[in-house]
Formats: sequence, C-alpha cells, structure tokens
Amino acid sequence: MVAEQRSKISVIGTGYLGATHAACMAELGFDVLGLDVDPAKIGSLSAGRVPFYEPGLEEILSRNLANGRLRFTTDYAEVAEFADIHFICVGTPQRSDSNAADLTYVEAAIENLGPLLTRPAVVIGKSTVPVGTAAVAAARIAALAPAGDRVELGWSPEFLREGFGVEDTLRPNRIVIGTDSPRVEAAMREVSATQIEQGIPFLVTDLQTAELVKVSANAFLATKISFINAMAEVSEAAGADVIKLAQALSYDDRIGGKFLGPGLGFGGGCLPKDIRAFMARADELGVEPALSFLREVDAINQRRRARTIDIARGLIGGSFAGRTVGVLGAAFKPNSDDIRDSPALDVASTIASLGAKVTVYDPEALEKARQEHPDLNYAHSMLEAVRDAEVVLLLTEWAEFRDADPDELAKVVAEPKIVDGRNALDPDHWRALGWTYRALGRP
Ligand code: UDX
Repeated sequence: MVAEQRSKISVIGTGYLGATHAACMAELGFDVLGLDVDPAKIGSLSAGRVPFYEPGLEEILSRNLANGRLRFTTDYAEVAEFADIHFICVGTPQRSDSNAADLTYVEAAIENLGPLLTRPAVVIGKSTVPVGTAAVAAARIAALAPAGDRVELGWSPEFLREGFGVEDTLRPNRIVIGTDSPRVEAAMREVSATQIEQGIPFLVTDLQTAELVKVSANAFLATKISFINAMAEVSEAAGADVIKLAQALSYDDRIGGKFLGPGLGFGGGCLPKDIRAFMARADELGVEPALSFLREVDAINQRRRARTIDIARGLIGGSFAGRTVGVLGAAFKPNSDDIRDSPALDVASTIASLGAKVTVYDPEALEKARQEHPDLNYAHSMLEAVRDAEVVLLLTEWAEFRDADPDELAKVVAEPKIVDGRNALDPDHWRALGWTYRALGRP
C-alpha cells in the first residue's frame, strides 16, 4: 500500500513567530519552505543562524536544514509551487498614525501569493489581526487565485511566548482554527496530528471567534498584570506589601498566581499593541465602551514606568542632572532579546534625557538596544554597568540579576542604592548587607 502523501507546508514571514513555526513544523516531520521578503533574514536562517534570541530554536533549525526538510526562500512563485498549506505569520505592528494594527504585511502576503495559486491550496493565517480581517482576506485570495474557490482560508491564532517559542509551538495549551470549510479543518488536523494525539484541545470556531480568541487572551493577560500593578499603587499609598497581597490572592484558584507579578509592567511586541488595536477595532464596531477599561489597563501600565523613575530620583536627592545611574536589563522580559516597547529601555532613556549618565547591561539585548538607543551607554557585564553608580535599577529580571551578589556589587558602586523594578530580589538580604532597597508596591 502506498503511504498517504503528507501535505507540504509554507510559512510566510519568518520573524519570531514564523521562524519558530517553520522549524517546529519540520521537526514534526513536514517538508517546509519558509519565505521572507528580507534577504538578510533568509540568508541567516538558511545558514542555520536564528537572527534573534530564542532558546532551543537554533538546534531545531540546524537539524532540519541538515535533514533537508526545511528550506528558505524570498520567492513567492517557489512557495506557491511547493506547498499545499500556506501559513501566514507576518507581523501586524501598531500603525504609526493611530492605535490600530498595521495590516500592510498581511495584505502584501495575500496579494503576492494569491495570483500564483493555480492549484487547490489551504491558507491559514496565524498573525494577530483585528476581528473581521480573515473574512476579507478569504474573499480576496479566492478572487485573486487562478484556482478560485479551491483556495480556502482559515485563521489559527498563535499563542507563543517569546523565550518559550519552541515549547509553546510543539506543545501549545490549545489549538484554535477558525473556519467553516471541512478542507481547512482537515488541513489543520493534519498539521496538528501530534498535538491532538497528546490530548491537546482542538477547537473549531468561525473566523471571527478565532480572531477574537487571540486578542481577548492578550487583553486578559494585560488586565491581570495591570490589576496587580494597580494594587501596588494602592499598597504604596497605604503602606501595604503587594508581594504578600499577590501571594495571598494566588491561593484562590479562581484567581491563580500566574501573571500576577507586580513591577514595571508589560511591554514587548504583543500585549501593548494588541490591547490598543483591540480598542481601535471595538471603536470601529461601535462597541467602544465595552473595551474602555483597556485604556485604564494601558494607563496603569505606563504609570509604573513613571513611578520607577520617581523612586530612583528620590533616592539620589531629587534630580538626575549629572548623576551616574546603572541599569540592569534592556529586553522587555528575560530570556528574550526583544526590545520592542521595552519598559526597561523606556525608563533608562527617560532618565538619560533628565541629565543622568546611564549605563545599561543586558545578557542578550545589548546589540538591539544600542541600535535603537544611542543616547545610552552600554557595558559588557553587570559589574561594569553599575561601576560608580549612585543608584542601580533592576528593570528586567534575568536570572543573572536575581542571583547577583549584593556584596560584589557594593564594592563597585558609588552608593549602595537599588530600585528593584521587577520585585526580583530579597529585600531583607540586600538591606542586611547595607543596601538601601526600594521596590514597587512595597514599604
Ligand atoms: C504574550 C502572550 O503571553 C502570548 O500568549 C502571545 O502570543 C504574545 O504575547 P510575550 O509578549 O512573549 O507573550 O510575553 P509574556 O511572557 O506574555 O510577557 C509580557 C509582558 O508582561 C512582559 O513585559 C513581562 O515582563 C510582563 N509581565 C508578565 C509582568 O509584568 N508581570 C507578570 O506577572 C507577567
């Protein structure tokens, strides 16, 4: 008996999401062709180098390049010819002129791929898009394709966290596919066969619900973080301890302890822009009041940055002018080199603009930070960054900073004063060793 032919897969857009998705699909045994319009990215991936920091991805990339299941190209014609299932994984950043999502790259993928689809194909969008985008894209691609309505489009949102991209792609906590087409559903079941076998929930919805699952998940996570950060604000005013408060709340399993970590708040390429795009879309749909609370979620988040700066300023006598400041962390979170909307860099560059000499160290994000923020100084180690500092700010909770030895740091700083922007350190320990320790939401 002839073994059933497996579908061939293309992945359009090879950023954090697409590169990870392409490598993981190959790892699951599929033949995969990744496409990006950026030749530098394709050159790097083809050579087995991941152009960003993602633990575990380089091994999977190299292994599947070597066994021939994974290739990369910049040529849409090659992709159209090769694949039966096309995943769209391009970015949807915030527009420069409004809060809405910029759909240029999604539209370009559809416009470029569509006219080349001469045989039946399934297109599955994974990018985070405003609700309603997929229905328009489905009609458009069928209109463009010579194969017509034998080209069908569904939407399957991606929930991967940077730093855990491989794990989240191979073992997601759920798979959602928005479609009313049996063929799209069957394609999604085929590529998800391993996960379905493992008992991972597989949900079929309409297009709109699938789009909404993603943005509402991110809105919920952002709200949870801002909730505890609002409690931190109240705790500061009332003399309470938000860490103890969060711990006590977490034992109620209706609330749970995840994403209840108070501190400098959320950043990155997803949460901030997704809640803004969600509000913009609700406005267009005429249900703006339904999401007006997200404006407050955003505002609470921004206030934490200002508060961190105020605490540091207070510690050095009320002005940053001419002072020396050491900053630990540039990435928006640990285990990532992503600096998009990074709270750490926002705080660091605001302090620099107020007249301080700010030196930043981050284990992975230095290069990207240097390009984006030439206004800051950069050091190649933690000790170098805090040398002669009159105040130290811990702004991204890398393990290296959590485990820092207060005695070692005390030897090189000008003043043993630290603002723990991520509630990552043990205050009693640092104070016992002579440090003035301040954190958000704690006495
Ligand atoms: C997020 C979602 O988790 C993911 O499902 C989605 O696909 C993309 O957006 P990511 O941006 O990689 O993933 O980061 P995440 O781990 O969610 O952290 C987001 C931000 O929240 C970080 O800046 C982090 O420092 C902050 N955070 C997280 C807190 O401030 N407190 C917490 O308790 C948790």
